[in-house]
Amino acid sequence: MTLLNYTKTNRPRRNARESTSLNRSNRCGKSSRSLPAVLTKLATVGSLLFVLPMLGGCSKEPAPLEFEPNLVHAMKYQIKEGIPMDQASDDAFWLVTEMFGTPEDPKLPEIVTEDEDLASLVSIENLRRASGRVGEEGRGLYQTHCVTCHGTTGNGRGELSATMSPYPRDYRKGVFKFKSTERGEKPTREDLAGLIKNGINGSRMVAIPNLTDEDVEALVDYVIYLSWRGELERMLIDDAVYELDFEEGDRIINPADRNSADEEAKEAFEDSWELAEDFAVEIGEAWLEAPDAIVEVPDPPADFVVPDSYEEFVAAMADERAETLTASVERGRELFKGKIAACSKCHGETGRGDGQNTDYDDWTKEWTLGIGIKPENRDELIKLLARGALPPVNAKPRNFALGAFHGGARAKDLFMRITQGIEGSPMPAVTFVEGEFEEEDVWHLINFIRSLQEAPEEESPTDAAPAQTPQQT
Ligand code: HEC
Ligand code: HEC
Repeated sequence: MTLLNYTKTNRPRRNARESTSLNRSNRCGKSSRSLPAVLTKLATVGSLLFVLPMLGGCSKEPAPLEFEPNLVHAMKYQIKEGIPMDQASDDAFWLVTEMFGTPEDPKLPEIVTEDEDLASLVSIENLRRASGRVGEEGRGLYQTHCVTCHGTTGNGRGELSATMSPYPRDYRKGVFKFKSTERGEKPTREDLAGLIKNGINGSRMVAIPNLTDEDVEALVDYVIYLSWRGELERMLIDDAVYELDFEEGDRIINPADRNSADEEAKEAFEDSWELAEDFAVEIGEAWLEAPDAIVEVPDPPADFVVPDSYEEFVAAMADERAETLTASVERGRELFKGKIAACSKCHGETGRGDGQNTDYDDWTKEWTLGIGIKPENRDELIKLLARGALPPVNAKPRNFALGAFHGGARAKDLFMRITQGIEGSPMPAVTFVEGEFEEEDVWHLINFIRSLQEAPEEESPTDAAPAQTPQQT
């Protein structure tokens, strides 16, 4: 913890509820002057979100930009542990709103801005640029380019999400798939920037032309910001359930006690606040560690070629490299189907993704199998689906005939995916067995996988339009 040099200061006493209603009254103009009065009567920020859209009266105005509370995470525990979680959800949401602000007015917790290292993760200037509304000068990048898929909250629940497989990433879990770091570690800024710049080949996320480097940097900051606030919200709820032996009526924090005359209540408030700060620091430190966790990918051996693309593969097969390359492909095929590497178990004997393919990703498993409900059992999932969970879809093993690699097609990218696995998905990291399956064999697997591609891609990955991208059905 870098909490040591943190000195308590008078924290800003901004009331999220009041400021939200003020913004709203500005947007709605004269016709809805009474709105703030109605709003301040509402008990919680959480309930505010659901009532606002119904109040109407400002139909000409764009829908308000609001973060959504993580109701699925709370409901999951309500079902599993039998404890009512609405209050916990409201309290956690209140805390993250106090610390991280809103989609129009983002901020960072003081514990972060006062620490040189943590403050270096995300710049407020970048946050302002990426946040805000479409068309707002110098702002609105995220709403313009990302929100239809990732949602304002970064929960992966944009307007278009339901039609996609895999679903757009829910950043709030803090887990990312395509990165240069060890399993369990956060991605680096460069990892995120690369994906934003180039899109994710084989998925519906495409490259966005005209993004400047500054835009990309601002969006990277914003993804980290959304992930940070979302992960904090989850941690607060997890902690309530697992550490505080949460019972009905308990509070994660009671905003009313902030200035309470009752010393005990005030102290309880401060303890809860400080705990939330500890969590925020913990998450920030994980992001800070990412650059130290980069995996050094070794160079391929010199005695056979490991092409970086299908074109290179075809070229090598047509010249003197063909013999050693063919031998490598054969060795790869054996391993792929063999008992130890056992890739065919999921990807199928011919690598078409038709092995064991009825599994789900961790984003889905945690609120289904994780609480003892089968993902296929829609009736039992209704409460969760009603709170924003997207219907379970299978996490399909890649079909290598398509040659579309989400995490990059270069040999080094594939080396990373195979040795580290793909986090949050069923794709495991390999386990080496001396004399049977060693690090060098990974290059053979890569050559075999490359040999499975059926036709050259018509376009470079970055130009692929969604309609032409092979869909993982
Ligand atoms: C048309 C839909 C769409 C749009 C628009 C979109 N994405 Fe995505 N995004 C996806 C999908 C789908 C995935 C999941 C891909 C996968 O898991 O293979 C994803 C994944 C991601 C990931 C996770 C990468 C990882 O390693 O796990 C990040 C970060 C991301 N998107 C950021 C952005 C940002 C920033 C924008 C806006 C500049 C954006 N996306 C726009 C659909 C979209
Ligand atoms: C338990 C099932 C399972 C096993 C075993 C498995 N995979 Fe996968 N693999 C998957 C799934 C699922 C995906 C898609 C993950 C995603 O993108 O979310 C995948 C994706 C991949 C990708 C695509 C990476 C990219 O960037 O698109 C490669 C390459 C791959 N696997 C290679 C292998 C190799 C080599 C082995 C054996 C050493 C293997 N897999 C074993 C399930 C498996």
